[in-house]
Amino acid sequence: MKHSNSKRDVWIIDADTSHSGKVSKALQDLYNIDCFENTGRLFEEIKKGSPAAMLITGNTSPENCVDIIHKIREIDQKQEIVIIYIAGSEIDPKIEKSKQAGANATLSRPYSKQALLNTVSNSLNQAVERQWDALPETQKNALKQSSSIFSDISNVISSGQPVEFNSVKDNCQPLVDAIETGDFLSILDGVKNHDDYTYAHSMRVATLLTLLGHEAGFNNDEQLLLSSGGLVHDVGKMMIPHEILNKPGRLTDEEFEIMKSHVAETMTYLDTCDDIPKGVRIIAEQHHEKIDGTGYPHNLQGKDLNELARMAAVVDVFSALTDRRVYKEPMPTEKAIKIMTEEMTSHLDQHFVKMFEKIAYDAKVIQSAKT
Ligand SMILES: [Fe+2]
Ligand SMILES: [Fe+2]
Repeated sequence: MKHSNSKRDVWIIDADTSHSGKVSKALQDLYNIDCFENTGRLFEEIKKGSPAAMLITGNTSPENCVDIIHKIREIDQKQEIVIIYIAGSEIDPKIEKSKQAGANATLSRPYSKQALLNTVSNSLNQAVERQWDALPETQKNALKQSSSIFSDISNVISSGQPVEFNSVKDNCQPLVDAIETGDFLSILDGVKNHDDYTYAHSMRVATLLTLLGHEAGFNNDEQLLLSSGGLVHDVGKMMIPHEILNKPGRLTDEEFEIMKSHVAETMTYLDTCDDIPKGVRIIAEQHHEKIDGTGYPHNLQGKDLNELARMAAVVDVFSALTDRRVYKEPMPTEKAIKIMTEEMTSHLDQHFVKMFEKIAYDAKVIQSAKT
């Protein structure tokens, strides 16, 4: 089945339609769900294309769930499909057998909706991150180190524990190195299917902002500032409710106010880290300001807008338009640039839009936004 959105396919294999119905309802906002009551149709469908993940319960027919997992792994030699076994209880003997057969994760009943969402999302991310191992050292490190520092921040942000800026900066050095050699396509590709939207967006902003700095003649330290700023510019989004963050279509006025608060949340967090450079703070605080003063949170205008913020605004808008979201396909690069040059002349600094346009028309960026 072809869907007109960017959601990834998740299949549920379960003869108990009441349980599969509940699982489906919990996951359908984030993934395209298909339920299989018997394995006949499952093995027909898998010939046409495989899903990102399969959830298999002990309730399968006519075959045993462990045999099904074995059969799937025979078809899926590269182990690309994430298989999650949902056990009847914590002492289900099939937990061990399903792992031996090739299940990536297990979940035992009873479980909460959040536990289900976390298990699916973490397993999909682990699969995406495993593919990074095949990349050259610099690109692999750029992805692995940024992802690790980002999850460190996400683990401590709600408790307000600071991270050391030096560790953010050190972890961004491989990204700056990759930009220097011109091989950043695999980095943009590497985050494309990541299930953590805020991380994927932040990493795209960090990469493209560093690239813009490189084009503008910034030195290594300045580029490190841009990549670090890009990586942390939206960390406050981790405090925004999921339904608002992933809402398709227009936000209500009230929801938009909550969304806008991500800037203040980011600043509150960065204030706890006492060694954050001014440039990184400016990128985080001013990336939603607009030249004509209609942006937020401070309605800064014209010359009050720092150069770093002008650059960050251009890259942030481009990324938001071309990002893959659960409710939309990524916008093609050409269309995003057209909007930025024709409809956003009073919002974005056109000097940096022109400079960014040159980079974006580099075949590499176009290709990565299209696929
Ligand atoms: Fe933002
Ligand atoms: Fe952003």
